[in-house]
Amino acid sequence: MRIAPTKIETFRDDFTYTNSPFAIERFPFPFPEDDYSYSVNIEPHTLPGKADSVYEHLLDIDEHYLSEMRERGLVLKENPKRCIAMPHMDLACWDMIDRCMTSMAVDYPDWFKLEKDGDQWHWQNLLLNIDDRFTFGDSSTLPMPPMEYMGRQVQGDIALLDQREGDLFLDAGIVTCPADWSLAFDAGMSFSEWHGPVPMAHEMGVFDRALKYLCAIQVDRPVRRLNWTLTINARMDTSPETYPNWGHERTSVTPENVGEKVHLRVELQMLDRMPRSNALMFSIRTYLISFEDLCTNPDWARRMHRVMKTLPEPLIEYKGLSRYHPLLVEWLSKYDVPN
Ligand code: HEM
Repeated sequence: MRIAPTKIETFRDDFTYTNSPFAIERFPFPFPEDDYSYSVNIEPHTLPGKADSVYEHLLDIDEHYLSEMRERGLVLKENPKRCIAMPHMDLACWDMIDRCMTSMAVDYPDWFKLEKDGDQWHWQNLLLNIDDRFTFGDSSTLPMPPMEYMGRQVQGDIALLDQREGDLFLDAGIVTCPADWSLAFDAGMSFSEWHGPVPMAHEMGVFDRALKYLCAIQVDRPVRRLNWTLTINARMDTSPETYPNWGHERTSVTPENVGEKVHLRVELQMLDRMPRSNALMFSIRTYLISFEDLCTNPDWARRMHRVMKTLPEPLIEYKGLSRYHPLLVEWLSKYDVPN
């Protein structure tokens, strides 16, 4: 049973974030095999997905909703540039409002309500005590610009990609929990430009094939993929802008605290064609789990050891694991014993 989000946890300072047994059980473990390399791991996001899984609905709202929305507010207060929408993306932002509000109200009727009377809309977010009436398409009737308004109510980061000349451009987004990349830096870039720093994948042709796939996505045919990295402490905001707050934490891992400090960070990425603007909505829903909790599942623990042990060096470096990777492999080895 999905747990109603009631508690507020922190992703900074005292790091009170924890997963319930239900959240651990439904964690999107990203490794189908004992070794990992980049691939075009895109599949249809067929709805509804398995009941109670993170794939059940278009957008997964879970027990951490209130905590993540609070954290987003803190990040935006520190740096408003975490939310950007170029003027030509206005229609795409309204597409996003429609898609998010409509699906959230249908999928979570106890928490969100939407009434539409032509372009007069009434939105209620019972979790955040929001009750607003506005004219669809008229930004002056919302309390803040549409990207920020919706982004403050949806778990996970969101980017809107403009599609032109067979390419995608990162022209709008709200990104407060990135895995070490910056929206302000990448804004306006094309698909291969913003993927520039990723090792190996360009040579493997991953991005050329992925781009072709994405440009052909049709309305009401969302797709998804998983991406992963590791993060020290349950820190949502690992962006270059705040690097001084978290970069040094990589040196704090010891054999005694691995299970508690090191977290597997999985992004459930969903891509959805917007009907009016032809933009793509890219939602990056981040899930964090401590290695302690992860290793309560013996299959995951064993596989995690094998994946880590065989991870190609360029990926270890790119993902920022170099400092503690040997220690982590050693710690995990106790879970990988012959049957
Ligand atoms: C169109 C929406 C997408 C956006 C906005 C996006 C954005 C990004 C960004 C900003 C990064 C970090 C790059 C850096 O280090 O600065 C990244 C990494 C990456 N992206 Fe994408 N991406 C998208 C779709 C995809 C797709 C469809 C694939 C499919 C193969 C993909 C594969 C990757 C891979 C493999 C990495 C490296 C991740 C890691 O090893 O941690 N991306 N992406």
